Amino acid sequence: KILILDFGSQVTQLIARRVREAHVYCEVHPCDVSSDWVREFAADGNLKGVILSGSHASVYEVDDRAPDAVFELGIPVLGICYGMQTMAQQLGGKVEGSSHREFGYAEVRAHGHTELLKGIEDFATPEGHGMLKVWMSHGDKVTQLPPGFKIMASTPTCPIAGIADESRHYYGVQFHPEVTHTVQGQALLQRFVLDICGTRPDWVMGDYIEEAVAKIREQVGDEEVILGLSGGVDSSVAAALIHRAIGDQLTCVFVDHGLLRKDEGKMVMEMFAGKLHANIVAVDASEQFLGKLAGVNDPEKKRKIIGGEFVEVFKAEAAKLKAGGNGHKGATFLAQGTIYPDVIESGGAKSKKAVTIKSHHNVGGLPEQLGLKLLEPLRDLFKDEVRELGVALGLPHDMVYRHPFPGPGLGVRILGEVKKEYADLLREADAIFIEELRNFKDAETGKTWYDLTSQAFTVFLPVKSVGVMGDGRTYDYVVALRAVQTSDFMTADWAELPYALLKKVSGRIINEVRGINRVTYDVSTKPPATIEWE
Ligand code: XMP
Repeated sequence: KILILDFGSQVTQLIARRVREAHVYCEVHPCDVSSDWVREFAADGNLKGVILSGSHASVYEVDDRAPDAVFELGIPVLGICYGMQTMAQQLGGKVEGSSHREFGYAEVRAHGHTELLKGIEDFATPEGHGMLKVWMSHGDKVTQLPPGFKIMASTPTCPIAGIADESRHYYGVQFHPEVTHTVQGQALLQRFVLDICGTRPDWVMGDYIEEAVAKIREQVGDEEVILGLSGGVDSSVAAALIHRAIGDQLTCVFVDHGLLRKDEGKMVMEMFAGKLHANIVAVDASEQFLGKLAGVNDPEKKRKIIGGEFVEVFKAEAAKLKAGGNGHKGATFLAQGTIYPDVIESGGAKSKKAVTIKSHHNVGGLPEQLGLKLLEPLRDLFKDEVRELGVALGLPHDMVYRHPFPGPGLGVRILGEVKKEYADLLREADAIFIEELRNFKDAETGKTWYDLTSQAFTVFLPVKSVGVMGDGRTYDYVVALRAVQTSDFMTADWAELPYALLKKVSGRIINEVRGINRVTYDVSTKPPATIEWE
């Protein structure tokens, strides 16, 4: 196993993810664990190496240091950014503030052939120096090597960008190998954990399930848990995992707010009640939601109403469950499908040292209002890992690889006032679009257009236009198709769907959905447009 000590960087969990990608077991713990704790952690003889993370702070602002025991165990240590600086300082080197901040892309020269960087390079200079394309983010730098160390990498502005003591297997890099912008980052981390630490690459997602199941059982004991199931990937995977751990001690609550996609409720019930035999309460609150939304046009007001109403419905169900009955003694835990990017965005990273960027609805509020303890078994995972876990838990591929669906659902895809009539038309049109995206394969890649797009959906425009059908005139509604490709949903390109696909979709929608006589395709990028229309 590998121990990752977290000094509060925004990207510490990325280190863990890279180590897992190398199929090696690792644990992230705060940097201020005691030396005794470290020795205890290593006592089973399985600890093969330690990674010290970066920090958002400077060594001058905080006095965080690695527990001394880390350097007494005789095992390899890799320091990243702040981790390298504190290692250098603790072992007798010197760190100084720098007038020149380096932030972003940098090219680093790799010196000689350290065991860590041997054969790892992106390109060679005409003089034959191996070069790495990396991502840097630091102000301070190491200015004097600790005894026993040599320089492993440098840039013109940061002469000591990497250090190595090969006899003790201590390495430090000023850049961040855990981010994908560092092209050889995975190769470097893999070299460290596999070759230098000598771990075996035998960790798989199945092991994660066992570890997570054991942790959930320990945390929950014989108490009961409720979970709000939305049909989305995160809450579904969380539900399946918790159900695997504690079976009937889990109750899922599925709220139909009347703004779900076609057959969403049916699919969720078949999966969780039918296949997994999980306790699930389905609440049809569609009239209540649509009632509250009547006459409301403003997108943000609509979002607030839907979010607020959701909390009310969920609270009422939780109170019923808390009151017990039917052999239940009442829930004391609220489970949520919070995943790592949600945690980091909310500034809730484990060490409590990361800086808050924005609040996320998944994390705050509800548990306190309900007086329940939080259970968040996916907190350390990234989206693609959650999907892999879902498949390993036996959830269907189609469910786990679904496009994201916003919490307010069709509420933000019906422009202006939401009406049941509009939602019904939109559900039908959208189901046709998604079905055809799943049917159409790209000849070159063999992938379906559903898999080739990141998010695709139909938007209802409450305007009417004239058409002709048979011999008659129609005066019906318009829908827009939206399909985008993006890696992070922060920026997005509209997808160049094949004309044959668009033709099929528009033909089917106009013929099969009475009330819609015109289909348009949205060709706006984000920015300046957003992915959703509201
Ligand atoms: P935009 O429209 O801002 O969307 O480009 C980016 C991503 O966020 C989703 N989205 C939401 N998700 N509640 C959510 O849970 C919301 O209110 C919301 N608004 C947008 C959107 O579907 C896209 O994936």
